[in-house]
Amino acid sequence: MGRIVIAKLGGSVITDKSKPFSYRSDVVSALAEEIASSGESVIVVHGGGSYGHTVAKQHGLSSDTTSQSMSGVSQTRTAMLELNSLVCKTMSESKLNPYQFTPFDSVVHGTSSESASWLKGLLKAGATPVTFGDVTLQKGGFRILSGDTIVLELAKLLKPERCVFALDVDGVYEENARVIVPELTPGRIRKMKVPRGDDATGGMSLKLEVAAKVAAYGSQACFVSGYRRNEFSKALRGMDFYGTTVRA
Ligand SMILES: Nc1ncnc2c1ncn2[C@@H]1O[C@H](COP(=O)(O)OP(=O)(O)OP(=O)(O)O)[C@@H](O)[C@H]1O
Ligand SMILES: [Mg+2]
Repeated sequence: MGRIVIAKLGGSVITDKSKPFSYRSDVVSALAEEIASSGESVIVVHGGGSYGHTVAKQHGLSSDTTSQSMSGVSQTRTAMLELNSLVCKTMSESKLNPYQFTPFDSVVHGTSSESASWLKGLLKAGATPVTFGDVTLQKGGFRILSGDTIVLELAKLLKPERCVFALDVDGVYEENARVIVPELTPGRIRKMKVPRGDDATGGMSLKLEVAAKVAAYGSQACFVSGYRRNEFSKALRGMDFYGTTVRA
């Protein structure tokens, strides 16, 4: 088994965030085909998009605020499981063998070495482990656990070669301009002012924070368009691609 690659399929690309419950099966299908043909050991994390974020927002749930409404928590989780099941179904139809796990199963509980060997065992068996941003019971109540935070936890655990973030934009833009920054360092990220966006978890701002930490752990973080399948494929394989690479 080669080194591990974590692919975060952004909710912004696998759904239309402007339309509640709008799943893009054609996009997931194309990304899954590139994952299948990459020859890399890929773990997939997907975001909430117009499933998780829509329902979470209706109930005032986010990664910062806890919800008093158990029904809101439950409905958000059900929406995420619905999206996850669509993603897994599309992946199965696209030459992959997805094996769904919730962050709770391995990352939040259990020891790191148990979790790492469990995930490596899945990869060795030919599965593509798939997990997603979730609603979890943490100190003080239920909060959204962002898919981007899960990428960070998995990166700590597995020291992957790369974390590839597939997005609805071509990479990270310069502040105040629609120009892609090809390379970033954790130091430069700390100086950037990026809006948190209006989703439940902190949008691009959280993603860059995660990328800076991932780079500090010795992995690369790549930001690439999820609509450009060739560029996504190159990023997965560690080739030069059109987008943004974050390295320490
Ligand atoms: N400097 C920037 N460079 C690139 N995108 C930016 C920047 N600042 C804000 N954005 C916005 O960040 C969005 C991506 O973050 P967002 O959290 O919405 O997507 P996601 O993580 O793919 O979705 P989800 O949270 O559902 O998984 C882009 O659609 C873009 O509009
Ligand atoms: Mg996001």
